[in-house]
Parts: sequence; C-alpha cells; structure tokens
Amino acid sequence: MTFKPAAWPRKLRSQTWFGGTSKDNIYHRGWMKNQGFPPDLFDGRPVIGILNTWSELTPCNAHLRDLAERVKHGIYEAGGFPVEVPVFSASESAFRPTAMMFRNLAAMAVEEAMRGQPMDGCVLMVGCDKTTPSLLMAAASTDIPSIVVTGGPMLNGYYKNERVGSGTHLWKFSEAVKAGTMTREEFVDAEASMSRSPGSCNTMGTASTMASMAEALGMALSGNAAIPAVDSRRRVMAQLTGRRIVQMVKDDLKPSDVMKKEAFENAIRTNAAIGGSTNAVIHLLAIAGRVGVDLTLEDWDRCGRDVPTIVNLMPSGKYLMEEFFYAGGLPVVIKRLGEAGLLHKDALTVSGESAWDQVKDVVNHNDDVILPADKALAKSGGVVVVKGNLAPKGAVLKPSAATAALLTHRGRAVVFEDIDDYKAKINDEDLDIDETCVMVLKNCGPKGYPGMAEVGNMGLPPKILRKGITDMVRISDARMSGTAYGTVVLHTSPEAAAGGPLAVVQNGDMIELDVPNRRLHLDISDEDLAARLAAWKPIHPLYESGYGWLHQRHVEGADTGADLDFLKGARGNAVGKDSH
Ligand code: FES
Repeated sequence: MTFKPAAWPRKLRSQTWFGGTSKDNIYHRGWMKNQGFPPDLFDGRPVIGILNTWSELTPCNAHLRDLAERVKHGIYEAGGFPVEVPVFSASESAFRPTAMMFRNLAAMAVEEAMRGQPMDGCVLMVGCDKTTPSLLMAAASTDIPSIVVTGGPMLNGYYKNERVGSGTHLWKFSEAVKAGTMTREEFVDAEASMSRSPGSCNTMGTASTMASMAEALGMALSGNAAIPAVDSRRRVMAQLTGRRIVQMVKDDLKPSDVMKKEAFENAIRTNAAIGGSTNAVIHLLAIAGRVGVDLTLEDWDRCGRDVPTIVNLMPSGKYLMEEFFYAGGLPVVIKRLGEAGLLHKDALTVSGESAWDQVKDVVNHNDDVILPADKALAKSGGVVVVKGNLAPKGAVLKPSAATAALLTHRGRAVVFEDIDDYKAKINDEDLDIDETCVMVLKNCGPKGYPGMAEVGNMGLPPKILRKGITDMVRISDARMSGTAYGTVVLHTSPEAAAGGPLAVVQNGDMIELDVPNRRLHLDISDEDLAARLAAWKPIHPLYESGYGWLHQRHVEGADTGADLDFLKGARGNAVGKDSH
C-alpha cells in the first residue's frame, strides 16, 4: 500500500458551487435552502451524494430509501453533508429487452450526475445485478471518492420445507413443469416462497456475486456482501459506510487508488472461490476499462485456475446467502485466499486498511457452507476461457455449474438462429435432437439481442427432459443468469450479429468442446468457414433511432466488457465551466 492521505482541511469541488457570494454561488446554495438546510452545511464540509438506485420496479432495491437514511446518519455523524440523489435503476426482473442493454446507459447517466453536480464523494447504493457494475463504472470514470453499500440479499426461500433459491429454482421448477413433474398451480404457489423479504437474489447469482466483487475489489467495507437485507446489521453497515465516505473525501481516497490490477486479480480469484456468476467477467472487464486497468479474458482464466470453489451456495451448491452470512461471509473466503497464497494481501481498500488486515482474524462458523479445500465443489473453480475457430476472441464457461462428463464433448449442432427460433422449435417433438447434440443459439450477444440476454442456459427439449436428462452442451453469444447452471458456453466472441463464426454454424456441423485444453472448435475446413463468412448477412435490422441506435452502433464485444466504445476510460471530475 502506497497511498498517502491528502492534507485536510482543503477546498473541495463542492465549494465551486456552494462557496462564495457570486450570483451563481447564491443560485446554487440559495435554492438548496428551500429544503431547510442550515447555513453551516455549506461551509466547506464534504458534500456526499447518496446515489440511490431505489425503484419500485427494481424490487431488489426497493428498500434502499430506508437504508439511505442510515447512510445519512453516518455522513452527518462524521461531519459531512448528505444529499440523496435518485439515479437510473436497471431492474433485472423487469427491464426489456434486457437490463444489460441499459447498464451502459445507467453508467453514462450516473457519471454525468456525479460530475455535473456538487458532490465531493459518493455512496453507491446498489443491489440488483446491473446496478452495481453501472455505478462502479461511473465512479471509475469520474474518479470521485466512492464507496459501495449494497441492499443485501433476501432471506432464504422455502417451499414445502425445501430451500428455494432465487432464480435457481425458477429454472428447476420451469423444467419440472415441462417434464410433467410439477403442475403450473404449484409453480405459481412456489413463486412467493422464492421472494419472501426485501433484498436481492438469495443465491450466489449475479447480484450476490457483484456485491462480493465490490467487496473483493476493496470498494465496499469488509463484510458488506452477505448481510441479509432485513438484518439490523445491514443498517449498521449503511451507517458505517456513511461515516467512512466522509473520511475518504478528506483523505482523497479515490477509486483509482483502490481499483488497481491487483484488486481485480483478487476479485477474479474471489469469484472462483464463491462459484460466482459468469456475468462478473463482463462487468469487471468493463469497470477495468473505465479505470484504465489492462484486464483481459486471459487474466480470468489464469487467475481462476488454481482456485477451488469453497462456497457451497446455489446454483453450484446447496445453501443460500443467509447461511453464508451466518458462516462468516466473504471475509472468511478472502482470508482463505490469503492463507493459500492467492491474495494480493497489500491491496488497498476503501476502509484504508489492506485486503488482508481486515480479514486476518475472522473465523469460519460453518464448514459445510464455506468448505475446506479438500471438499471443494470444484478443484479449479475459475471461469474457463475457451478459444478456437468458433470463438476466436474467446467464450466462457463456469465449470462449477457444469456436468464434468460434458466438459470434453463432440456433438452434432442443432442450431437456433435467434431466441424466437428457439422458442418456436424447442417444444416440437419432431425436433431432430438427442442428448449428445450441441445446442447452438445465435444473435443473443450485446449487439444482437440487443443487450446480451441471459438466455444462454436455454432449457432442454421436453422429450429429453422426460428421459431424466438435465444437461447438454449449449453454446451461444448470450449470457447466463448467475442463478443458473449447466454445461453452457457463453459470451462467444465475436458475436453472431457482428459476423462472428457463430453466425455461420449450420445444423449437422460437428462441434468439439475441450475444456481441459481450452478449445472450442467447429469441425469444418478453413476454406468452408471463410466461404460461409463471406456470404453471411445479418438477419436483424438495427434500431433506427433512440438509445437502441447508440447502443447497437457503439457496443463492444463481450470479450472486452461490452461497454460503449466512447465511454471507456476515466474522464475525471472536472466540469468544463465549473469556475463560476
Ligand atoms: Fe434483482 Fe436478482 S433479479 S438481484
């Protein structure tokens, strides 16, 4: 750790709005007084923006207004001036065509909200899948001191006395309905049991993964990720976060001081240890792109290889986030990485302490939830990156959620040209498919869907499910929900809609997946592949206006994080004409 706190007191950026007696200063300050703020709040103390993704249509974040009050308490206690600001909230469960299409829009809007308004520091109040990366991307681009506090996961779900995990059981129940072992009435009955309290998905899905990534990156206080949304200690965490951001502003501890390459490597290894979502690959690549860290898909494969998956949570394992919290949560996992020589111990965190110092004394309270290494769910739990003529820029697979026997597989391609084609054919009893085939889904990437939907774990045909078979090799340019599972090759790059080789796979082609050798091969000659690619034409028209127009023309590939090309990099916090 080489960070040296800045001298305090000094003039903060908010004073260019609120200090002085010019007409503009009075305009900025005077109008704020209609809310009843006493004059001394404008005296040069840190102004902290509480960037709140609260929304009743983002149900996982619907309790964040309440939590924001605790953040405010903490900010006032530490001598700051809190201002709560609603920001774009991309709900995973409600946004169409997909929340992912709006992650970058949210990041762009939040970046401008941070830069263009009088904020010296920011508390990023997030929870649902896309809200966490979008606000971290914004913070990285402005480099304004920022700290994450998440809303926390929902309590355990139970149905007929069995644990029910958000998302994970949605897939299981829907396949059971298809297989005829569950009625639709039971399915409807089960839905309330999945979501029985405020909070985000209670599995190690994308929301819990990204909360863990924020903590592992050092951007949230230690222990933040797993505290249930309704636990009183979540409120304590919010209050402590409010206190901490004030000191971070005084010290000038910025995202670029915390999110170094070492921090990303810590996060990648943490992702492997928790059996985290493949979505973290895209989000961390995008965040790294904003903060100027050279992170690649190869880093994911390299760093994750030696890390066992020790967190026994759905979808890879059997427990839920509530039990993870009782066992000790993410600090225990980070400590285990440190003990195994898999942690950059000196990495700085928002607490001001190193990654190691803040976890070295924690204790595991349940070794069936956080497993010993010799009982790991997967010995090599990291996200695997496969390449080959079918994915020249790479594709990813999560071994801990896959069937080991299918990790080396050769099969006949059954092709779905897009998600509508899949939906039209998958229930057809005459579909020419058996369990040895490889299901291929195209045009679901960042540009294609658009927005890279979580449809890569496409359900199996009912006639195969009825045989009791629950997994097949599936390949697409889509993403997969972090709550899902299966031998699923995702994020194939370049995507089909950008003219990648995936676009020209035909029914009957043979495909080889060889995870041990990191290979994904379409078994046709180079000449045939070149001829098919030369004849390829996109099958979907592009948006002609609006944000869709911007997204489809500027979104990059999944292999680099699917950010908009013109948003990459840090732009700082200076406003062109901020010297009124
Ligand atoms: Fe919001 Fe899972 S849908 S956290």
